[in-house]
Amino acid sequence: MKKIRLALLSGGISSEREVSLNSGRQVFEALDKDRYDIALYDPKTDLKKLVMDADSLDAALIILHGPFGEDGTIQGLLDLLNLPYQGAGVLGSAVAMNKRVSKKLFEAAGIPMPAYLSFSMNEAIDPSRVVKSLGLPLVVKPACAGSSVGMTIVREERDLEAAIALGFTHDDAILMETYIKGIELTCGVLGNESPEALPVIEIIPGEGYEFFDYTAKYTAGATREICPARIDDAVTKKVQDLAVRAHEALYLKGYSRTDMILSDHQLYVLETNTIPGMTATSLYPQSAQVAGLSFTKLLDRLIDLALAEHEKTKLRRAL
Ligand SMILES: Nc1ncnc2c1ncn2[C@@H]1O[C@H](COP(=O)(O)OP(=O)(O)O)[C@@H](O)[C@H]1O
Ligand SMILES: [Mg+2]
Repeated sequence: MKKIRLALLSGGISSEREVSLNSGRQVFEALDKDRYDIALYDPKTDLKKLVMDADSLDAALIILHGPFGEDGTIQGLLDLLNLPYQGAGVLGSAVAMNKRVSKKLFEAAGIPMPAYLSFSMNEAIDPSRVVKSLGLPLVVKPACAGSSVGMTIVREERDLEAAIALGFTHDDAILMETYIKGIELTCGVLGNESPEALPVIEIIPGEGYEFFDYTAKYTAGATREICPARIDDAVTKKVQDLAVRAHEALYLKGYSRTDMILSDHQLYVLETNTIPGMTATSLYPQSAQVAGLSFTKLLDRLIDLALAEHEKTKLRRAL
């Protein structure tokens, strides 16, 4: 069989560059070398080369996180270059990257979320009204970021101002949400036309971590992950159902991973990731493994889904 000429994109220019480079290395290791000829591109330095090489490539694997990687921009470039890539397209990537827009679509789809308020940089924010509306603790986060970057849990009103200022250093819109104390769960989905949910993962940040923050996410051993989660079948079904609904509400394709919190028998969706972490021990690959799909096979599947999706949309090209 002829090898698939694959562009592996990792690095980039977002605050999650290091995470991406690390994932990229592990993805490279795991990819089946009998199936793929792999060329590496770091969008920070190699975009022109990618454009020049496009005609000699068959597909791209985007292992980038955050703005300029997960937000539709790279996806748009690849569309123009007529290169298939895994996961969400321009629209889904753009809406899912923006937590403010995602929430509007989740609301329209009846997906349960923590109570929230959103603000743009030029809007006046009255701290006491915010606290009255959301209660304490509350969470301040930038609309477009990931890996818990720029996020604060505010426990006292006097700390709100600094949290808001920090949020606005990462984006010109922020969200504030009621803090939900409960069991943190995350659930992946996989597939094009009728995406299926993977086993649910339970996340337990280690002692000393206030929440699943950047360090808890990326320090080995800082977080315990249990898959399948220790929840009964009925709740599992609800979590999986919500993950699929969230995926569909945001117009996603191929795969995604939705973060939730279970509190007092209620589920709250936090967000959906269109390019979930992709080291061999990241959440999504872990749950795929529990479902019987090795990291290598998971990558094959994502690339197969990308090629299938591209076959369909190719017909819309007039030339
Ligand atoms: N409303 C909330 N209540 C409780 N914990 C939260 C809330 N929002 C975020 N968190 C914590 O912060 C982490 C990151 O938040 P999330 O919305 O998933 O953003 P991202 O992962 O894109 O940075 C979550 O995994 C959770 O631990
Ligand atoms: Mg998250």
